[in-house]
Amino acid sequence: IGSEVKYYSKIDSTNTEAKKLAQMGEKEGTVVIAEEQTGGRGRKGRAWNSPFGMGIWVSVILRPQISPVEAPGLTLVAAVAAAKAVRNVTGLPVKIKWPNDLMLNSKKVGGILTELSAEIEVVNFIVVGIGINVNNESFPEELREIATSLKIEQAGKEKLDRVQLLCELLHRFEEEYFAFITGRQKEILKQWKGLSDTLSSIVRVIGPSSIIEGRAVDLDETGALLVEKEDGSVERIISGDVSLRSI
Ligand code: BTN
Repeated sequence: IGSEVKYYSKIDSTNTEAKKLAQMGEKEGTVVIAEEQTGGRGRKGRAWNSPFGMGIWVSVILRPQISPVEAPGLTLVAAVAAAKAVRNVTGLPVKIKWPNDLMLNSKKVGGILTELSAEIEVVNFIVVGIGINVNNESFPEELREIATSLKIEQAGKEKLDRVQLLCELLHRFEEEYFAFITGRQKEILKQWKGLSDTLSSIVRVIGPSSIIEGRAVDLDETGALLVEKEDGSVERIISGDVSLRSI
């Protein structure tokens, strides 16, 4: 991972660029990074605030030989890698909120956007995009209550070395991805569970056509969240379009 790096000062979205490159045959492991994204994208068609030089805005092209249903597992790979990298470099106790948010002190410090190109049974390529707010000092009004950066949350409020963090992220990503493709999903799940701030919380899952409330009891092998409702039945939630609140 990262033996080939495409670096841009400014681009619309590293995920969009990585998808274009992958479509043209770019090899597995190629990384696309940018100092600034003018059209950074989050889940559910939301925008991702990506100001110049402030964060890590990176996408990785992967070509695993898996079926599309296994693809959400790669979001877990990325979440574990990103959480470990931040912890190793900064010591900050970042946690994962299912399925893909990196949280610090109950605010969002990063996120993951996994995009897939597949035929009926097999994955053609997957682009995993990771955004981490590193040195941001402020956020637009609408994000102020919910977003934060590593710099803001750090005791000394010192500027962090983004290159060091990026290197650590790519190393951890490679390690977890290798575990994934060699059938060690269980290890990844175990680490994910250890880093999660979702399991055992009471949650509300808001889907396009229904709302489910209950206790988040576990994660299954595919990365789906298991929510136990008041009547004792268990719902399996796949990430799709849902959003999750702790209540
Ligand atoms: C989310 O939490 O909604 C996901 C945010 C993902 C942001 C990253 S930044 C690099 C990559 N390029 C994008 O346009 N989005 C992802």
